Amino acid sequence: MCGIVGYVGPRPALGVVVEGLRRLEYRGYDSAGVAVVSDGRGAAEGGRPPSDPPTRRIHVAKKAGKIANLDAELAAHALPADGLGLGHTRWATHGGPTDVNAHPHVSADGRVAVVHNGIIENFAALRTELAEDGVTCVSETDTEVVAHLLGQQVSAGVGLPEAMRLVCHRLQGAFTLVAVDAQGPRQVVAARRNSPLVVGVGDGENFLASDVAAFIEHTRDAIELGQDQVVVITDSDVTVTDFDGVPADVRPFHVDWDLSAAEKGGFDWFMRKEIYEQPKAVADTLLGRHDENGRLTLDEVRISEEELRRIDKIIIIACGTASYAGLVAKYAIEHWTRIPCEVELASEFRYRDPIVGPTTLVVAISQSGETADTLMAIRHAREQRARVLAVCNTNGATIPRESDAVIYTHAGPEISVASTKGFLTQIVACYLLGLYLAQVRGTKFGDEIASTMAELAAMPDAIASVLEDMDPVLKLAADFAEERVVLFLGRHVGYPVALEGALKLKELAYIHAEGFAAGELKHGPIALIEDGLPVFVVIPPRGRDMLHDKVLSNLQEVRARGARTVVLAEADDDEVLPYADVLVPLPKVSTLLQPLLATVPLQMFACELATLKGHDVDQPRNLAKSVTVE
Ligand code: F6R
Repeated sequence: MCGIVGYVGPRPALGVVVEGLRRLEYRGYDSAGVAVVSDGRGAAEGGRPPSDPPTRRIHVAKKAGKIANLDAELAAHALPADGLGLGHTRWATHGGPTDVNAHPHVSADGRVAVVHNGIIENFAALRTELAEDGVTCVSETDTEVVAHLLGQQVSAGVGLPEAMRLVCHRLQGAFTLVAVDAQGPRQVVAARRNSPLVVGVGDGENFLASDVAAFIEHTRDAIELGQDQVVVITDSDVTVTDFDGVPADVRPFHVDWDLSAAEKGGFDWFMRKEIYEQPKAVADTLLGRHDENGRLTLDEVRISEEELRRIDKIIIIACGTASYAGLVAKYAIEHWTRIPCEVELASEFRYRDPIVGPTTLVVAISQSGETADTLMAIRHAREQRARVLAVCNTNGATIPRESDAVIYTHAGPEISVASTKGFLTQIVACYLLGLYLAQVRGTKFGDEIASTMAELAAMPDAIASVLEDMDPVLKLAADFAEERVVLFLGRHVGYPVALEGALKLKELAYIHAEGFAAGELKHGPIALIEDGLPVFVVIPPRGRDMLHDKVLSNLQEVRARGARTVVLAEADDDEVLPYADVLVPLPKVSTLLQPLLATVPLQMFACELATLKGHDVDQPRNLAKSVTVE
């Protein structure tokens, strides 16, 4: 939520910053802006000749709307291309998405420019204080107060790094701040608390960004920053301290994916590309996590086996799609480990006084690893002395860093706002955890674990085979393009699949879609069924339990009331044929693995329908990836 870029080095800063913002636009697209500090010797400034003698000053361009609007502004009013630069792409919190509220914000004397991700909770008090000092804010944002506070410090002779530390002590809430001082040394200064920030370490140049995607084109060497740290980058140095100026330890890491992973590669949308990447994402998530006998080797679970044997409750906390991955995982984890497992929305968790303690394992699922609701929930869990294990896709993100252990999903960067490969790999990682717990606690025999691992190992091919036949789903999207309401039904692990199918349709196609537990239908929602209403039904594989037959009955119930049914079922499931207006065939797998297949056509359906409706699939309205505010 909000993307931030900072750059110092020999390249034209404007280009580096704008290109970086383009790669971060998925984090927010309400407005975009840049500031460069030029020495006046570079390209013409807004049509004026270079100043003589050269002066260093801040030049800002910012526009409401997507980066395309900023591009147009820059084309009309050129900024100097050289010097230091910073930029921002916004998801609005305080103040509407207007030009004035767009970042960067500049101090009253025009010396300091700042961009911000997060929420400054005490901004109103700071604003009043500034007004008493005669400083009037021109925007409605919480961020502008920081620009003025920094401006006051630097004009009193305090260097920008120290000014940043002093100001951070006065701020409450969550923030990543990046600032430049036109009169100060050639440096960019940043601070972080509860919001993401990484440093890109180049050769004679350095970068700051919310996410490595912004600088991956230039360097894959990065530094992860800790909580409450201030970083100063110059052309050749990176210096990190805490808010008191004490040098801080940092963790360097190497980004193991390259630029092509952050590009569309010929697809119309990142989402479609990411849907097609799912076989590889699942294979990569399984890679190296078991030996040739199918025995799990999860070295990253740094919680001792003895402690894992003492666990008497598991609570999965997550938001949105990640919470549906958690709901799927609950069925498998309870089945394999016999440990009671609850799934809780992270945003609700700490407000209900949950019963957790040293024998509770809290599993926090987050693709980004930065979701504020999930972060606050794990902090609460740790305060209650629970052990916390993160399932995360982003190396070095805050949630894994603040957890006792982490299982990384190796999905590669997920750029589309709507999660796809994130979801599938979260399920796989949770399954690995469940099997590992079963292995440690002896609730499953080795050969049972090995056979489930073999089934999981076959999933990339099974997902690929589903992807090979997307034509019926694409046609379906064309047929349903004018629908206003769509329902999704499932039972057992098919229920969270139904919820996920509905969420995808809501967020991408802006269609009212609901997922229901199929058995719950007769307790109310069946009243919604009327002639022609589209209803997707996820039919479980035929097996020894009654699950398949029960959902088949639910399918018949809605069909009998006139629903137009789209049935996701095993390819050779003849029993569903009489009740299916459209059949989406799935390969034969066991019940617990079916979500890895059944979700895929639903993702593609939503993607295609949104495309047909002319929506921006990668950047749906009002949303942003990586939700760093509560
Ligand atoms: C929906 C979607 C969101 C995220 C949710 C959690 O397509 O992507 O519902 O799943 O915001 O995000 P992470 O996993 O980053 O914590």
